[in-house]
Amino acid sequence: MEVGAGSGTVTRWLADNVGDTGHVVATDIETTWLRALDAPNVQVLRHDVATDALGESVNDLICARLVLAHLPDPRAIVDKLLRALVPGGWLLVEEYDLASLLISYPPDGTWRKVAAAPGGILRMGGGDPYMGAKLTGILHAAGTADVDTEAVALPRRMPQVPSWQTQFVQFRERLIDAGLVSPAEVDKVIADFDDETCDPVIYGPTLVSARGRKP
Ligand SMILES: C[S@@+](CC[C@H](N)C(=O)[O-])C[C@H]1O[C@@H](n2cnc3c(N)ncnc32)[C@H](O)[C@@H]1O
Repeated sequence: MEVGAGSGTVTRWLADNVGDTGHVVATDIETTWLRALDAPNVQVLRHDVATDALGESVNDLICARLVLAHLPDPRAIVDKLLRALVPGGWLLVEEYDLASLLISYPPDGTWRKVAAAPGGILRMGGGDPYMGAKLTGILHAAGTADVDTEAVALPRRMPQVPSWQTQFVQFRERLIDAGLVSPAEVDKVIADFDDETCDPVIYGPTLVSARGRKP
């Protein structure tokens, strides 16, 4: 099962791997993109993981990527996901830790301030920019066995990550309107991504993957 499957990239991978004899359930509160999957071994379910029932001891594996950070009580959601696993089944949860977004080498005050702004927006909407760092503790507290965690960040020179620049272009007005950055600050960062002579290395967000088994 994938919970909060979005456009279904992970669901597609799961469907390929479980093959003809396996079965994948993909859930989301918005299933428009998932409906395009059209694989015989995938069942798409409109489902709110915070409020709808999920069943007991039915799934061998449950994945949830970039979902918990948006929900008010992630520990309760993890408890619910564990209940829906068969004994011995695996839970995989993945979330960003945006703390690494502030890192640059050499350090740069403007980058630090502008890079902190997306986390501020997430927090204003009730989200948690540091959920990735909390996953290990949540899995332990929920009684999950064999907990293991990995984290990946991708340090890059600014001119080499135009896709990260796009995020700041898209969110420019929101970051300014929220009072988190000035137009000059965000515009300097956007311009730095285009400057081949601009050498700071930035880390980007860290994607934390935590897994554990239902005892
Ligand atoms: C940032 S997207 C991640 C999508 C996908 N997991 C991925 O990694 O590509 C968050 C997804 O969680 C879904 N979502 C948010 N709240 C949810 C809820 N209460 N129950 C189920 N899905 C939810 C959203 O609709 C969205 O598709």
